[in-house]
Amino acid sequence: MSHAANAPAVVLITGSSRGIGRALAERLHAEGAHVILHGRDAATLRQVAEGLADPERVTQLVADLADSAQIERLFAEVEARFGRLDLLVNNAGATLTGPFAGQPSAALRQLIDVNLRAPLLCTRAAFRLMKPRGQGTVINISSNVAAMPLPLLTAYSSTKAALEALTHALREELMDAGIRMFLVAPGAVDTDIVKSYTRDFVERYDGAIRRLDPATVADAVMGCWRLAGEAHWKQIVLEHFPEPRPAASTTPQTPAREVAD
Ligand SMILES: NC(=O)c1ccc[n+]([C@@H]2O[C@H](COP(=O)([O-])OP(=O)(O)OC[C@H]3O[C@@H](n4cnc5c(N)ncnc54)[C@H](OP(=O)(O)O)[C@@H]3O)[C@@H](O)[C@H]2O)c1
Repeated sequence: MSHAANAPAVVLITGSSRGIGRALAERLHAEGAHVILHGRDAATLRQVAEGLADPERVTQLVADLADSAQIERLFAEVEARFGRLDLLVNNAGATLTGPFAGQPSAALRQLIDVNLRAPLLCTRAAFRLMKPRGQGTVINISSNVAAMPLPLLTAYSSTKAALEALTHALREELMDAGIRMFLVAPGAVDTDIVKSYTRDFVERYDGAIRRLDPATVADAVMGCWRLAGEAHWKQIVLEHFPEPRPAASTTPQTPAREVAD
């Protein structure tokens, strides 16, 4: 399939039905990209699409990334419609909090499939689309718990640490084909993911955590995407400022008295 030289960049953001992915989709669309929205629910994607200015530059694709056959279909659809992919953001993810010993195997399997196996399979599929053109960008959304694993977040921390390992291991192979690979690792972000936190996790951490705005994470990803040419960052770790210090006293100083001659 041939494309005009000035055709908009084709970008796929997994998990763009809400949260960080949605904020990023809105940003990329505002900057002129053709955005492929992805999630598991067509009605939710339709709502997101309705909020974007140019319907000609929006495509909605549904796939459960825990299912490898659906991942294959997703990328076959991208290839059939566009014949190319300029940017893949492996953003879709889930979490699992609470004591490890009580977590069912099915929940662990689901978490590993979505947070680790899916980015691996999506990156492989994207690589096949990007390689013939000798260009493309893959951005993986990790978490700062990859480097600082937390109790009550064992499996999630492990999937993100593995995602980071896969990113660093793969980067050179992709670069040889002209494809850049970035890793963005935010701290806590204010999204729906927090609704799945168990009570013990909330009691232990939540009051102490300051959350980033999803738009701030989108800023970091946009920075990677805009970074010119062959340059890349190995990793961006995004953290919230700590609690602000109490403001310095604003009591007005006693004015200096005029000194008579
Ligand atoms: N929020 C945080 O504190 C935080 C911190 C660091 C890193 N992160 C990472 O940031 C990324 C985005 O998270 P978020 O906070 O924006 O979460 P979110 O608001 O819960 O959004 C998660 C997205 O992933 C999609 N998704 C989940 N499971 C899926 C599956 N099986 N198949 C396809 N799509 C699936 C969801 O789509 P559906 O509409 O189909 O559910 C949704 O679009 C994740 O990788 C997360 O680990 C988040």
